[in-house]
Amino acid sequence: MFDRFDRSIDYLRISVTDRCNLRCRYCMPEEGIRLLRHEDILSFDEITGFTRASVKHGINKVRITGGEPLVRKGIVTLVKMLADIKGINDLSMTTNGILLKDFAGDLKNAGLHRVNISLDTTDPERFAYITRGGNINDVLEGIIAAKKAGLVPVKINCVIEKSRDEEDARLIADFCLRNDLDIRYIHQMDLVNGHFSAVDGGTGGNCPLCNRLRLTANGKLRPCLFNDLVFDIRELGYEEAIMKAVELKPECGSNNVTGKFYNIGG
Ligand code: 5AD
Ligand code: SF4
Repeated sequence: MFDRFDRSIDYLRISVTDRCNLRCRYCMPEEGIRLLRHEDILSFDEITGFTRASVKHGINKVRITGGEPLVRKGIVTLVKMLADIKGINDLSMTTNGILLKDFAGDLKNAGLHRVNISLDTTDPERFAYITRGGNINDVLEGIIAAKKAGLVPVKINCVIEKSRDEEDARLIADFCLRNDLDIRYIHQMDLVNGHFSAVDGGTGGNCPLCNRLRLTANGKLRPCLFNDLVFDIRELGYEEAIMKAVELKPECGSNNVTGKFYNIGG
């Protein structure tokens, strides 16, 4: 699919839950969030049905996000269902890695190709501070498990405040070098005030090259992270939602007051 600005739309990001087992300071308030109602969350059949329709229209790259995707019950089954769709040549997941040591082998067997793991520092105390209580050892074990399972290339997503010269970012750079991991620096963003920039080492945040659509856990298709436009796939039907989202995808992001990272998945 091509949009009005001749961008080829071939990448779908699917948020499978708004829940998370961490509370990163830049993402969620300490007390947590008001959670979506169970009946509003898309079923596995809806997610795979919608993905199949998207693939028919040219999507060939799919990423599973959250919240934290590994807290969604039955996630391995969903991965298997998505992996069985012909035409997806890159099936990946963004995870905080906390549960990855228990899931890596099963995810690989289910057909997941690779993972991006969020890690902003290698200092255990700083990690606990940033995530409000997370244990970094879980993530480190998760990274080892992912490599061992062959969920490669393993990429590390590192959110930075100002620059890649700050202490935590340098620790991550060194860690990635020593452990043969790819690194992507993501500037801390502010959806409401429209503060965003291109991901360093990745393809996100660069409007002229944007190739993606985003599906939220409750079935809203969003053509742009930094815009309030949504198309409800249950109300419109899958095809119509896809067509409208591609047709009306904004040329460039502005701001977004209705969405949050934990329900759009970044
Ligand atoms: N700015 C940039 N990235 C963010 N994420 C969450 N909140 C923000 C923010 N304010 C990222 C996480 C993770 C993904 C779920 O979204 O680092 O990689
Ligand atoms: Fe959870 Fe990711 Fe948000 Fe951290 S950034 S609270 S790991 S969804």
